[in-house]
Amino acid sequence: MVKKFRIGNPFDTQAVVENIEISDIRDFPLELSVDEKAVIKFNIGEGDMIFGLGEAVRGINKRGWVYESWCSDETNHTEDKRSLYGAHNFIVVSAKKKFGLFVDFPARVKWDLAYSKTDEVKIILDGENADFYYIEGNSEREIVRNFRKIIGKSYIPPFWAFGYQQSCWGYAKQEDFVNVRENHRKNNLPLDCIYMDIDYMERFKDFTVNRDLFPDFKAFVDDMRANNIHLIPIIDAGVKKEEGYDVYEQGHKNGYFCKNADGTDFECGVWPGIVGLPDFLNDDARRWFGSQYKALTDVGIDGFWNDMNEPAIFYSANGLNKALDKLDEIRRDEVDIWGFFKMKDAVLGIQNSMDDYCSFYHNVDGKMVCHKDVHNLYGAFMTNAASGFFEEKFGREKILIFSRASYIGAHRTSGIWFGDNFSWWSHILLNLKMLASANMCGFLYCGADLGGFNNNVTRDLLLRWLALGVFTPLMRNHRALGTRVQEAYQFGDCKDFSDVLCVRYRLIPYLYSTFRRCSENDDMMFCPLAFDYPDDKIAREIEDQLMLGDECMIAPIYEQNKNGRAVYLPEDMTFVKLSGENIKTEKLKKGLNYIDVALNEVPLFIKNGKNIPLAKPALNTAELDTENLTYIL
Ligand code: GLC
Repeated sequence: MVKKFRIGNPFDTQAVVENIEISDIRDFPLELSVDEKAVIKFNIGEGDMIFGLGEAVRGINKRGWVYESWCSDETNHTEDKRSLYGAHNFIVVSAKKKFGLFVDFPARVKWDLAYSKTDEVKIILDGENADFYYIEGNSEREIVRNFRKIIGKSYIPPFWAFGYQQSCWGYAKQEDFVNVRENHRKNNLPLDCIYMDIDYMERFKDFTVNRDLFPDFKAFVDDMRANNIHLIPIIDAGVKKEEGYDVYEQGHKNGYFCKNADGTDFECGVWPGIVGLPDFLNDDARRWFGSQYKALTDVGIDGFWNDMNEPAIFYSANGLNKALDKLDEIRRDEVDIWGFFKMKDAVLGIQNSMDDYCSFYHNVDGKMVCHKDVHNLYGAFMTNAASGFFEEKFGREKILIFSRASYIGAHRTSGIWFGDNFSWWSHILLNLKMLASANMCGFLYCGADLGGFNNNVTRDLLLRWLALGVFTPLMRNHRALGTRVQEAYQFGDCKDFSDVLCVRYRLIPYLYSTFRRCSENDDMMFCPLAFDYPDDKIAREIEDQLMLGDECMIAPIYEQNKNGRAVYLPEDMTFVKLSGENIKTEKLKKGLNYIDVALNEVPLFIKNGKNIPLAKPALNTAELDTENLTYIL
C-alpha cells in the first residue's frame, strides 16, 4: 500500500515512524530525474484534482498554482504567495489512478501543480537526497489514512484545550488578564485560556517573567487556575543575547546556538534585539532548550505556543551592511524612479533573506549542516524540544503545545495555528480550506486567529468567524498590537457572542470524541466533500463546505452583509441552527438550498440516520458536564 523509494543519502527528518523497506528506485511509478535537483513529473488529466500541502493559500483543490515548501514568516496570506509557515509535503492525486505522494525532504520543494503546463505536475527538490513515499488506496480518504498510518498518531492536547481561548498581542500587566477573565464571566461568555504574548517576559527573554508586571507570578497563575483559566505564554525561537541572562550564557558556552561558517555564533535581530538561534537539530541543544520550559511549568503553566520558529529573521548584521552599502551606492547617483525601487528592494530584502538562511550551520552528530538544507525542520524540532520534555516529565495529553512553523512529524507532538492572518472575510474561507489540508497531513489540533490577527475587526466578521471557530479544535481569538479591540465583550450587547460561544461548549463532548477517534484511526476530522462523494460532480468542486466527522457537514457564512448563503447538500440532511440553548431544525433535500442564518446562530447539517450529542452550557470546560448529554435530533 505504501512504497518507499530513496535517492542519495537523505537527512533523517523523523517524519515517518513506520519501518518500510526501501524499494528499487527503478520501480518508482512516476517520472524521476536526478541531476543536482531531483525532479518528479507526471501528467494529469482534465478534471483530475490535487489535494494536500497542509498550510497553504488558495483552494482545497490545489491544482493550477505553484506552491513552495519553505517555512516562511509570511504575514500576507494573499493568493500570490507560494509558502506559509508550514512545510507539508504530502499530496493526494484524485485521478483515474488515485495515489498519494509524500516527499520527505527538509529543504525547499517547488510544487508546480499544473501551473506551467496545464496537464503536468512537476515537483522540484532543492537537492538530490530524499525519500519518496508512494501511497495507494481505493479512495482519497483511504490514501490519507494509509499515509497517516506511517507518520504516526496525531497529537492530542489536554481536554481543556477545546475550550474557548482569548489572546491579544498587547496584554501586559496582571490587570489586563484579570479584566479579560472578569469581562468574560460577567457577560456570560465562556473561557478556558488567556494567552500571554511577548510582553509578559523581561525584555522578550524566553523563560523569564517581568517581575515588575508580575511580582508573584506563581500566585497569579494559581489564582487564574482557581478561576479555571489556563495562562498560555509564548516562547520565541531566538534567545536574547544579554550578559548575565543564564539561558543565553548556557547556550553560548555549550555551543548550542547555530554557527557561522567560522564557528562563531550566528546572530540576528528579532523581537528581543540580537539573538542566538538554538540549534534544535542538535540532540544536546534540543534537550537543553526543552528543559528550559521547566522555569514555567514549575510555577503551574501547562500550555505554550512556540513562535518565530521558521526561523523568522528580521535582520542580520551582514544583511544590514549589505543593504546599507547598496543604499550608499544608489545615493552616489541622483535617485530616480528606478533608484527608488532599488532602494526599496534593498531594504525589504533584509528580512528573512536567503543569504542569511544560507550562511549558518547546524551541528548534527558532529557534522556541520547548512541551514538552508534543513530549513523546514527548524520549527518542528523546536516543538519537539518542548514536547520531549513535557512527555518525559508529565506524560502525554497533559500540556498544550502548538507551533507556528512545522513539518510533518511534528503533528505527533503538537498542534499548529495558521499564523498572522487578517480581519478579512476571505480569511474565514481560507481558514476553512486549510482545516482539510492540514488534517490530511496529520495536523488535527489546529485553528486560525479568529477575528483575524492584522487589521481591524468588525462585530459581524468576528461573529461569523467564531461560528466557524466553534468547530475548530483550537478556538482562539487573537489580534495584533495596535489593531481594534476584539474580545467578545467589546461590541456592546454580548448576547450574540454568548449565544455562539455557548454552542461551542455544548458541542465539546462531540468534538473531543471525534477528535480522539480521528487521531486513533488516522482519520480526518474535516474532509473535502470530494472525498466522501466522489461521484457527485457538484460535491467534488465544493470549496466552502466541509464534512465534519462521520455525522455532519459545516458551511459557514463568510461574506459581508449576508444573512444566509447557498449550500449544496450531497444527500438529504437535517439543517440545524444552534444558538445559545436554542435549536432549530429543518429537513432539507439533496441539492442546492438557500439557508438563512442570523449573526448569533451556528449552522450545521446532520446526515440522515446520524445524531449529535449536546452538553449543557458551561462557562469553562472544568464546569462542563460530559456525562448527561442530550441529542440534537
Ligand atoms: C508573531 C506571531 C503573533 C504574535 C506576534 C508577537 O507575529 O505570529 O501571533 O502575536 O508575533 O509575538
